[in-house]
Amino acid sequence: MIFKRHLIFTLCTIYGILLKGVTGVSGQYPLVQNMTVTQGGTVNMTCRVEYNDNTSLQWSNPAQQTLFFGDKKALRDNRIELVQATTAELTISLSDVTLADEGMYTCSLFTMPVRTAKAFLTVLGVPEKPEIDGFIKPALEGDKITLTCITQGSKPAADLRWFRNEKEIKGAKEVNASGKTFTVRSSLQLEVNRDDDGVAYTCKVDHVALSHAPQQATEVLEVHYAPHVEIISSLSIPQETQFLKLECMSKGNPSPDPVTWFKDGAELPDLERILVEGRELTISSLNKTDNGTYRCEARNHLGVSKDEYVLYVYDAPTTPPPPTTSPPPPTPPVSSALRPHASDPTVTDTDPNALGQHGTDHALIGGVVAVVVFVTLCLIIVLGRYLARHKGTYLTNEAKGADDAPDADTAIINAEGNHAHTEEKKEYFI
Ligand SMILES: *[C@@H]1O[C@H](CO)[C@@H](O)[C@H](O)[C@H]1NC(C)=O
Ligand SMILES: *[C@@H]1O[C@H](CO)[C@@H](O)[C@H](O)[C@H]1NC(C)=O
Ligand SMILES: *[C@@H]1O[C@H](CO)[C@@H](O)[C@H](O)[C@H]1NC(C)=O
Ligand SMILES: *[C@@H]1O[C@H](CO)[C@@H](O)[C@H](O)[C@H]1NC(C)=O
Ligand SMILES: *[C@@H]1O[C@H](CO)[C@@H](O)[C@H](O)[C@H]1NC(C)=O
Ligand SMILES: *[C@@H]1O[C@H](CO)[C@@H](O)[C@H](O)[C@H]1NC(C)=O
Repeated sequence: MIFKRHLIFTLCTIYGILLKGVTGVSGQYPLVQNMTVTQGGTVNMTCRVEYNDNTSLQWSNPAQQTLFFGDKKALRDNRIELVQATTAELTISLSDVTLADEGMYTCSLFTMPVRTAKAFLTVLGVPEKPEIDGFIKPALEGDKITLTCITQGSKPAADLRWFRNEKEIKGAKEVNASGKTFTVRSSLQLEVNRDDDGVAYTCKVDHVALSHAPQQATEVLEVHYAPHVEIISSLSIPQETQFLKLECMSKGNPSPDPVTWFKDGAELPDLERILVEGRELTISSLNKTDNGTYRCEARNHLGVSKDEYVLYVYDAPTTPPPPTTSPPPPTPPVSSALRPHASDPTVTDTDPNALGQHGTDHALIGGVVAVVVFVTLCLIIVLGRYLARHKGTYLTNEAKGADDAPDADTAIINAEGNHAHTEEKKEYFI
């Protein structure tokens, strides 16, 4: 215990002596800090002396010019001002900082000998707003374009990032130094297609000096392409008296407007029931005379596109709402739907009701007879085939023997390699 207390006491004493030596005897020295400031900003340069008699402090710039000697201004520069001058501290401020202000600043304490401290002032170059080059407006589908984004004046070199509609994509970066700052360029190679139409390409600048106001440039691609049309019908099974709307969905740039409608390769018949408004063709009440091939065409200077819709008007539903009846209704929607573009309408034309209950019975009997006849036929065929196959075996065996036999006798002997075969042969010869 006693030993331990002694040790602590000794350590404290040594520490006290060291502290006194640093601060008391030779502790009168200036303390400064490296500073970083953004171009155009203001920075304070502070020099402190913890224990000072009335010795003077001085700030000088990288060119060794005295800026302030105590509270006395030495250099005529409006940007440099005194913030605080005491025996313990000399603080000056430098506003509208330029890249030329960067360098090593010196604080001197005029003791004997003079003690100095050096602070490095780093000036950040603010990147200029980026510019995107290489845009062709409008671009044609298939064009290969190279977008280039350039920003100048950054220090240190800025980073450029590309975004295609908010999604980041990789570009090829190139950095060149020009004086104290850097010119950064990033390029992007694209082969445009119609999906690029209306897509925004953004180039963003990342830089330490831009934490508050990020810089970016955006260009929206415009791609010209030939139209593509598609007809969309409001009904899957058009029936008489129903309202039908055919919409000609057209995509193309420049927008192919208006679209043109044709029926069976000719102009639309001038009927009051058929109305064309913009891209829509409507028939207020379908009639069987309306069936035919409807075509929609759209064109721009890059090409033409057409789509066809074959209208086949089915009978009107006789029982207005067929709710739970499972047997086939007068107009069977399922079978009709299977071939809505059928060219031969005769089957659906004949009234399904003509085939009544009696008809069904006759059909049943006929079916049974047909099955019996079919089975009999099959039996006959199978029997015939059975006999024919055995005869075939015999012939083959004979031929096999003949292949490698010098004369007919040997051939027969060769063929008799198997007893079963010999018996077969005998049977047939009888
Ligand atoms: C410089 O110091 C003064 C006084 O302490 C303060 O008001 C001012 O905001 C400082 N300027 C900068 C840029 O730190
Ligand atoms: C500093 O100067 C003031 C007056 O100018 C004087 O009163 C003071 O004693 C001086 N201090 C030292 C440590 O010399
Ligand atoms: C201050 O900057 C100088 C020059 O860049 C460097 O050598 C020194 O280590 C820096 N000092 C501190 C404390 O960061
Ligand atoms: C960088 O310098 C090279 C060679 O001098 C030059 O070919 C290139 O165009 C420059 N790039 C930029 C972004 O200035
Ligand atoms: C269909 O048109 C014909 C001739 O224009 C007309 O006689 C018939 O009544 C129409 N059918 C329906 C269901 O409107
Ligand atoms: C239209 O369909 C009806 C059957 O629904 C058929 O009788 C008629 O021949 C068809 N007319 C044309 C012009 O195809």
